[in-house]
Amino acid sequence: MSETQIPFAYEHPGSPTAVAWAKVPREPDAAEKPELIARIKRLLKEQDAVLVAHYYVHADLQDLAEATGGIVSDSLDMANFGHRHPASTIVVAGVRFMGETAKILNPEKRVLMPDLAAECSLDLGCPADEFSKFCDAHPDRAVIVYANTSAAVKARADWMVTSSIALPVVKHLKEQGKKVLWAPDRHLGSYVQEQTGADMLLWQGSCIVHDEYKARELIELKAQHPQAKVLAHPESPRAVVQLADMVGSTTQLIKASQSLDAQEFIVATDNGILHQMRNLSPHKTFLEAPTSGVGATCKSCSHCPWMAMNGLLNLAEVLESGKNEIHVDPAIIPRAVLPIQRMLAYAKEIGLPAKGIGNA
Ligand code: 13P
Ligand code: SF4
Repeated sequence: MSETQIPFAYEHPGSPTAVAWAKVPREPDAAEKPELIARIKRLLKEQDAVLVAHYYVHADLQDLAEATGGIVSDSLDMANFGHRHPASTIVVAGVRFMGETAKILNPEKRVLMPDLAAECSLDLGCPADEFSKFCDAHPDRAVIVYANTSAAVKARADWMVTSSIALPVVKHLKEQGKKVLWAPDRHLGSYVQEQTGADMLLWQGSCIVHDEYKARELIELKAQHPQAKVLAHPESPRAVVQLADMVGSTTQLIKASQSLDAQEFIVATDNGILHQMRNLSPHKTFLEAPTSGVGATCKSCSHCPWMAMNGLLNLAEVLESGKNEIHVDPAIIPRAVLPIQRMLAYAKEIGLPAKGIGNA
């Protein structure tokens, strides 16, 4: 299977900029696609497997997940769905932390991914040993980590959250008089801090995709499209979030694209999400928020290079070979599962709508 290599850089405080390589799988041509999709459908059945995909992966994978009784959704629903689905194999089309979360919640199941090198800059920018020292230095704080972290980092946390549930969890802890240590996304952390007024100490990580949206250029684009509403993921910089009509997780942004009274939208999150937005509102126009302009490097240009590592060809390959199985150190699982279970239980308690099986 041939592939293209895309170089890109990620940075985190205290370490030099590292250059990583994303191997983007070859896209099957139109002639081979129907047979390939039929093969994957057959393999999913034979392997008692369910496909759980994120909104940022290729449209073909999103459609296939839905067509085969799996799910395409945000990180919270992906964790919930894989956990409640009876299949003995979960195939995660997304990035590594999503596969690890599925494994931590379901150690008895086999979890496969099209490419195990699909990382996340937030996860890479929060090494467990450094994070552990950070926690040790602030023992008076409740530790909340974003889903986009390793199993070892989760094992140091009191709570795991995704962007769908970060605000209610922090509000809840604030009401209990707790101070928070937050990691790793600094933009989401400062957004939550501003919205809740909680006392939060922030790790300084960022997402290489969302970090690139440019406020000044967004103002210019808004001027050209005065009727357009702006939808922004809170991993975006504060100046971008301040220009948004709606700030939320991927699921919340998709819902807003349906419910808001506008025909045009400017979207500040990975452009993989536009597939769902356009499917759900075919008569509306969706524009990507600008990543170019003053100071721009546009390394990821509105699409996550690691999400792009998922394709139909490597999905078929792992289902056939059983390779690319996710393993999490069994010694870590009993501790790492606690903050995830706490989040899932709280989501249920506050009635956060869940996509998928039974909506329980
Ligand atoms: P959500 O889909 O949970 O909003 O998260 C976005 C993300 O960072 C996935 O990489
Ligand atoms: Fe991580 Fe950003 Fe890619 Fe999501 S989009 S997986 S946060 S690098």
